[in-house]
Amino acid sequence: MKKTILTGIKPTGQIHLGNYIGAIKPALELAKVAEYRPSFFVADYHGLTKIRDADRFRQLTYGIAAAWLAFGLDPNKATLYRQSDVPEIFELNWILACFASKGLLNRAHAYKGIVESNQQSGKDLDDGVNMGLFTYPILMAADILMFKTDLVPVGKDQIQHVEIARDIAEAFNKNYGETFVLPEYQVEEETELLPGLDGRKMSKSYQNTIPLFEEPKQLQKLINKIKTDSLPPEKPKDPESSTLFTLYKEFASPVEIEAMREQYLSGIGWGEVKKELYRVMNTYLEEPREKYKELLASPKTIDEILLMGADKARTISTPFLKEIKKKIGLLA
Ligand code: ADP
Ligand code: TRP
Repeated sequence: MKKTILTGIKPTGQIHLGNYIGAIKPALELAKVAEYRPSFFVADYHGLTKIRDADRFRQLTYGIAAAWLAFGLDPNKATLYRQSDVPEIFELNWILACFASKGLLNRAHAYKGIVESNQQSGKDLDDGVNMGLFTYPILMAADILMFKTDLVPVGKDQIQHVEIARDIAEAFNKNYGETFVLPEYQVEEETELLPGLDGRKMSKSYQNTIPLFEEPKQLQKLINKIKTDSLPPEKPKDPESSTLFTLYKEFASPVEIEAMREQYLSGIGWGEVKKELYRVMNTYLEEPREKYKELLASPKTIDEILLMGADKARTISTPFLKEIKKKIGLLA
């Protein structure tokens, strides 16, 4: 039996370096492993917790799908779909909601974070919280459990959500017997959370990102904005604690990485590092950028691929949901 790996990205902004390093790249690496069955999706209904402009929402959704494809995802080997095209997920969402204690969701970090900041600014504690945001982890549990997922490649910020999915699955299994697979997460230990231009986690929510498919000039500009310390050029620098070096490692060849490490140790100016980082990144991104632009110019092609993926996904979700409904006493 092949193991299922699955991950999703919500369409709330342009794909950025953090998404690529934290989720897309490791997921595509895992997809190459023969014993895995890979599923990737656009978590569009998760995006609705934030995006309220229909045209923008549609464009962003195409953007996430195009990014997966531009980086080489083969839709005939992996399953690529839009969450909203698989209605079984939403039916399961309700079932799982009945097994998720409110306390569990009170502790989920996105919600807790908003409550804490409301508290500090003296606002009503639930100010700005919609129920989509509060119950976000339940829908994510449905995404994962619907496909009997074994492994979820995500960035560090999503670990808690995978743990919540496990908790809910255990609660259900305890009552009805083994039904859901308990998922594991896989995080890139080495990069963990990539910092953004302001030093906080790089995130669409903070507008501190380096979008992956920027035109070369803009890419260079953004790289120049990455924060560094004020060590003078000739001073030796620690490669391991440098964001620039972390990024460099993702895009350069082993020989280039070693050469850069030595330059850090003997002293190199940040400006030089940024120039060299831009060079390797731009070379690496040239081809995917073209593919991405081509795909976005043909949304019909993207739709066809996503619908084909949804059909494939539903060959699993439809019978499994039936089985679940039987267990809870809805179907004979
Ligand atoms: P964002 O925070 O920009 O809205 P998402 O929440 O949609 O990004 O994340 C999509 C995937 O990318 C998740 O697996 C998440 O963990 C990963 N990811 C997002 N930002 C980073 C980051 N700065 N470093 C590493 N991984 C990240
Ligand atoms: N919550 C994830 C994020 O913000 C996106 C997501 C939705 C997801 N459903 C998922 C990731 C299922 C992995 C598995 O990044």
